[in-house]
Amino acid sequence: MADESYLCIGPDVKLGRDVKLSKFINLYGCEIGDESKIGAFVEVQKNATIGKRCKISSHSFVCEGVTIEDNVFIGHGVTFINDTYPRSTSLEGKLQTEVDWKVERTVVRKGASIGSGATVLSEVTIGENAIVGAGSVVTRDVPKNAIVAGSPAKILRYLAEEEPEELMSSSATRDDG
Ligand SMILES: CC(C)(COP(=O)(O)OP(=O)(O)OC[C@H]1O[C@@H](n2cnc3c(N)ncnc32)[C@H](O)[C@@H]1OP(=O)(O)O)[C@@H](O)C(=O)NCCC(=O)NCCS
Repeated sequence: MADESYLCIGPDVKLGRDVKLSKFINLYGCEIGDESKIGAFVEVQKNATIGKRCKISSHSFVCEGVTIEDNVFIGHGVTFINDTYPRSTSLEGKLQTEVDWKVERTVVRKGASIGSGATVLSEVTIGENAIVGAGSVVTRDVPKNAIVAGSPAKILRYLAEEEPEELMSSSATRDDG
């Protein structure tokens, strides 16, 4: 682990086994799974969950309401959103507190990757093994195995799913015959 004088980790953070933390990170009320790696200047807010073997690159912001499953890659400077219509003050003109707004959720499914500088709006699910291009703005759900890019992010193509083993051996038999 990095020199603890550069780390800001709340007592309520649940860190898994062998989590690697860089300097200047800010974690509070969140959960990070085994063997995940968190880069410098990353903030993970309360009620955010990061799975096992994830890589969260430097300068990314994982806000409350975000669930990141296992084996996910988050590039540099990725921003998540949890409030679609944000306001600084309540109707009474006072600074807003937690009672004045409802957290909107986002899920990043297992094995997905999000490119550097992407912004992920709330209430979306990024499907298993999907890839989000650098600098994209994700406004809708991303299907499993899709590559999306742009603002708003559109599907470029799908990654081929790995063939199950029994199909591979039967096609090998066909080739032999
Ligand atoms: C999206 C990405 C995965 C490439 O996917 P791909 O299916 O191989 O796409 P291609 O390179 O064949 O490009 C297809 C089209 O999408 C465009 N495109 C590619 N990446 C793009 C991006 N990030 N944003 C907008 N458009 C993009 C290309 O210009 C091309 O457009 P054209 O058909 O008009 O010429 C890749 O460009 C990318 O952004 N990867 C993320 C890298 C990253 O952030 N890594 C972080 C750690 S360093």
